[in-house]
Amino acid sequence: MNPLTDKIVARYRAGGFVHIAGVLSPEEAGRFRNAARAAFDRERGLDPDNQMFKQIVNIWQRDDVLSELTFHRRLAELATGLAGIPLRIWHDQLLIKRPHNRTPTEFHQDAPYWPHAGCRHSLSAWVALVDVPVERGCMTFIPGQHERRDIRPIDIADAHDLFDAAPDLAYQPRVTIPLHAGDVTFHNGYTPHTANANDTNEFRLAHVNIYVDRDLRYDGKRHVCTDPLGLEPGVRLPDDVFPPVPR
Ligand code: SIN
Ligand code: NI
Repeated sequence: MNPLTDKIVARYRAGGFVHIAGVLSPEEAGRFRNAARAAFDRERGLDPDNQMFKQIVNIWQRDDVLSELTFHRRLAELATGLAGIPLRIWHDQLLIKRPHNRTPTEFHQDAPYWPHAGCRHSLSAWVALVDVPVERGCMTFIPGQHERRDIRPIDIADAHDLFDAAPDLAYQPRVTIPLHAGDVTFHNGYTPHTANANDTNEFRLAHVNIYVDRDLRYDGKRHVCTDPLGLEPGVRLPDDVFPPVPR
């Protein structure tokens, strides 16, 4: 595995995303793929009626194999090098699109959904556990827009919502990144992105690790990951639920 070069970091910081091929070996990808497929059958997901994907959050707390992926040292080291600050896991998620699901994940930024104050950097590692050509629902990014803080939380089921909120983005170039199993894209929490529908006969199996500033504070907004914890606004995220990485 090649080291994280200054050039890759510079590309990430300018564009707000980067593709790193072959982060997982084929053996690792196969092992995690099997675990993800089993989790799909076993787990209910946040919303069983969601046609876009089955979203299974914090699988690290229930699956010993996928926990190894959430805390994968190489992924955490890459994320830390790209962010340039100490990180913790905010949450992981399996995002599994069924064959022919007919439902894209529409354009949005991630960070506006999160109850974080003083977060200097957040980024996601989107790990392909199967080959994800364009037709299976890979990611598309709008480069160079990750400094935008003027956009409200977007309805990811509405293809027009991001462009209603930020009409200029409709005229920005887009970059689509098909991945092989074991490849990863990292994207900044403010990089606008989408993923198309799965128009193939195979499941689209993706595992996402979300890394955030280790020192951020909870801001009191509602979120499925913090609501059960009864945190007071202004506190740091507890290490046992949002573990510092690498660990
Ligand atoms: C997807 O994989 O469908 C969307 C991922 C994301 O929005 O971060
Ligand atoms: Ni997203």
